[in-house]
Amino acid sequence: MTCDLQQKILAFDCLVPRYTSYPTAPHFKAIDNSKDVYEQRLHGLPHGTNLSLYLHTPYCAKMCHYCGCHTKITQRYAPVEDYIHLMMREIDMLGDQVPNHCTVSHIHFGGGSPGMIRACDFEKIMHRLRRNFAVRNDAEIAIEIDPRGLTEGRVATYAATGVNRISLGVQDFNDRVLQAVNREQPFSLSYNAVNLLHEYGIDDISFDLLYGLPYQTADTIADTVEKALLLSPRRISLFGYAHVPWMKKHMRLIDDKTLPSKDARLAMFTLAGRKLIEAGYQAIGIDHFAKPDDPLAIAAQNGTLRRNFQGYTTDDAPAMIGIGASSIGECADGYIQNCVDIPLYKKAILGSQLPAAKYTTHTADDLFRRDIIHGLMCDLSVNLIDICKRHGHDITVLSNEINDLRIYEDAGLISYDPAAGQLTVHADARPITRVIAAIFDTYLDRAATQPKHAKAI
Ligand SMILES: C[S@@+](CC[C@H](N)C(=O)[O-])C[C@H]1O[C@@H](n2cnc3c(N)ncnc32)[C@H](O)[C@@H]1O
Ligand code: SF4
Repeated sequence: MTCDLQQKILAFDCLVPRYTSYPTAPHFKAIDNSKDVYEQRLHGLPHGTNLSLYLHTPYCAKMCHYCGCHTKITQRYAPVEDYIHLMMREIDMLGDQVPNHCTVSHIHFGGGSPGMIRACDFEKIMHRLRRNFAVRNDAEIAIEIDPRGLTEGRVATYAATGVNRISLGVQDFNDRVLQAVNREQPFSLSYNAVNLLHEYGIDDISFDLLYGLPYQTADTIADTVEKALLLSPRRISLFGYAHVPWMKKHMRLIDDKTLPSKDARLAMFTLAGRKLIEAGYQAIGIDHFAKPDDPLAIAAQNGTLRRNFQGYTTDDAPAMIGIGASSIGECADGYIQNCVDIPLYKKAILGSQLPAAKYTTHTADDLFRRDIIHGLMCDLSVNLIDICKRHGHDITVLSNEINDLRIYEDAGLISYDPAAGQLTVHADARPITRVIAAIFDTYLDRAATQPKHAKAI
């Protein structure tokens, strides 16, 4: 990338959402009575609906100072065990509400650290899920794993219970970087984890890597990518560290002076991306890489890539059910989010209430704009005329947005062909895709005094 292009990209960097949903979570409304909204939506799921289930474990053994996830630290297993019992009651309640004709094609365990769940409890959860839902034989069952807590017993249980995709939180391999974020994780841990997973037949492995962490440099990131390549994961997510200390207080433990500059962050992303592409990976969306024969890469080539709360996915289930505190689900009517606060979640479950706390009802305009935003996030290119037609609009409804695109076009970061309606973010400008997507977001408060998002780069 030329220096000039780099400076142009940096000049347009601003605080924007990650667009795992539209509208984004800060715009969800409070639910007064979950029976009125959630239960009705579940009862109304169309015949034979394929479901995706997301189960959130909001616990970790140690706080990584960079962490932006919904989690709580505990050294004891008792709160986790207590929480698992609540989740199992929630699974039973959902099983009573979801019509029997629905099937489950995806299950995703996220966190926090779902790897904290002991093998015997994980088995119980899987059993409970299969008892309450028609889990398809070919279902994708994925779990986010912190290599620091992985044991052979757990891997054996994952394999035996049908887990077939693992996302490993690698983050970085540099000791100084890891020390600065309170995460001790030598290379050997990830190496052993990968070998163990292969031994048990779990070959769909992806790595989470972070750039923008304290003390990271181009050299350290290059070294981390090279080490990651030695382990040959099928997918790599290369997330930019979202530093939001005004929202996550523990991030104040990171000394701002140790954080790489904006220029350095962009250079790291570009360098790491180049190394991955040279190694044969395909760039997917704004921050993922996959081997060309991986379903994610195939979906990107076919134009069937999707984006949901877990990021980029091949999951095409039309409805998702969130289980556990803070989890978010979605059906044709809109999004539903469970209580974030664990005591409130517990109170709802013990009171035999579904713990839904927030929701949205998709408007026609939400669905229209979501098509544009998710199209850009997945493919970096959308046809605005086609999307307008699909939603019963004339292209003139986007006159203001098209006008706003001009400065990016003049800077050579995007192209827009008015006759064909094709809007494309140039490959080098990939890091500002979220900024372009935000042009179509009518909820975004651009003048907010209390920012809710991190910068794009
Ligand atoms: C729930 S965690 C993964 C599982 C496990 N807890 C672990 O850390 O290994 C999900 C991923 O979010 C990413 N992440 C966490 N905090 C972030 C932040 N502030 N900015 C960007 N990515 C972040 C990390 O790469 C992390 O692996
Ligand atoms: S990054 Fe993972 S292990 Fe670290 S605190 Fe966040 S959720 Fe827990």
